[in-house]
Amino acid sequence: VTPRGLRLRVDAMTGATRGYEVHIRAGALDDLPGRIGAAAPASVYVIITPRELAATYGARALAALHASGFGAELLPFDGGEASKTRETWAALTDRMLELRLGRDTCVIALGGGVTGDLAGFVAATYMRGLPFVQVPTTLLAMIDASVGGKTGIDTPAGKNLVGAFHAPRLVVVDPLALRTLPPRELRSGLAEAVKHGAILDADYFDWIADNAGALLDLDAPALAHLIARSVELKAGIVSEDPHELGRRTILNFGHTVAHALERHSGFTIPHGFAVAQGMLVEARIGEIVGITAAGTATSLARVLHAFQLTGGAAVAYDDLIAAMQIDKKARRAEPRFVLLRRLGACAPDAHGSWVHQVAPDVTRRALESVAEAAPGV
Ligand SMILES: NC(=O)c1ccc[n+]([C@@H]2O[C@H](COP(=O)([O-])OP(=O)(O)OC[C@H]3O[C@@H](n4cnc5c(N)ncnc54)[C@H](O)[C@@H]3O)[C@@H](O)[C@H]2O)c1
Ligand SMILES: [Zn+2]
Repeated sequence: VTPRGLRLRVDAMTGATRGYEVHIRAGALDDLPGRIGAAAPASVYVIITPRELAATYGARALAALHASGFGAELLPFDGGEASKTRETWAALTDRMLELRLGRDTCVIALGGGVTGDLAGFVAATYMRGLPFVQVPTTLLAMIDASVGGKTGIDTPAGKNLVGAFHAPRLVVVDPLALRTLPPRELRSGLAEAVKHGAILDADYFDWIADNAGALLDLDAPALAHLIARSVELKAGIVSEDPHELGRRTILNFGHTVAHALERHSGFTIPHGFAVAQGMLVEARIGEIVGITAAGTATSLARVLHAFQLTGGAAVAYDDLIAAMQIDKKARRAEPRFVLLRRLGACAPDAHGSWVHQVAPDVTRRALESVAEAAPGV
């Protein structure tokens, strides 16, 4: 990381005219007041953060804002996916109404992807929309959830079913925050970085494979490079297709199988672990139907194994295939998959669509072949 940090400009998010800056720097949390004052001027800043981070990162951000003369409030909520609900949204917006906060308020989402989605949705809806700033503290949120303007909550019918596109004014990423993150969460985030390399950039994929040890050891320059490159790749795709009408779909590589695995496990498998298994299965599907270069699944498995993201509980294939048929991307109950051409490139189908319809028996063969290579799925 250079002393000044890395600045990426993300353009045309959500069709809005203004782009926003992603500021990545070890120690960037200390830059928060200065950055925020310029990018998102407001009378009051509301920091929404999970309770478990309130005493540490939350208190630090609050003190820094107060010290710089800003009005600021800390609004903790019970973290975790189970809190990404209408009820938490209602409690937070009620609290903001009690505090008599008006349209001159800016929301700061300080936490992982759950916080970003929830606080972003609060910002999108409170008084018909407030500016907000993302301060992601998990690797997944840094490289994935905080980029792209999707906000929302879960409902009993499924994840992320109620939400809005609402782009942040600024994203501030401090890789040092990853030092307190449980290792399992770090590895889960690394799966999405591997995905970015697999779908878009073979050199980046190789770099991740070569630097797996440094990344797991939280080497600061390696992490800063990973975050910057992943944000750049995701931002590029999102800017081109903000509302996921076309190529943005390729970010769903591995996710048809991953969502089925997550649902099947009652959401006990961490997302990144499900994505890792999903990428292996979907690479094998592509190899079986002759679209993906032979050996791609093996190369993926090598990297994912280095991050201890392979293996896992065995599941019944029929149940898994059934779960895929109720996926959001499944049209007319046929599961659809993003397929690689090779590492670093995706393959459109004959009609130019980025998702392919695949017969269930091919999916079954792919599941069996991945399970044979590594026990579990
Ligand atoms: N909007 C999008 O485009 C998008 C993309 C991908 C994922 N998501 C969403 O992101 C969510 C998952 O996000 P996640 O994996 O970050 O989970 P998370 O937000 O639940 O965070 C994981 C856990 O780590 C804790 N934590 C966060 N930062 C920490 C730190 N620095 N030190 C110690 N503990 C810390 C959290 O409090 C939580 O308990 C899902 O709800 C998913 O739908 C959204
Ligand atoms: Zn994902």
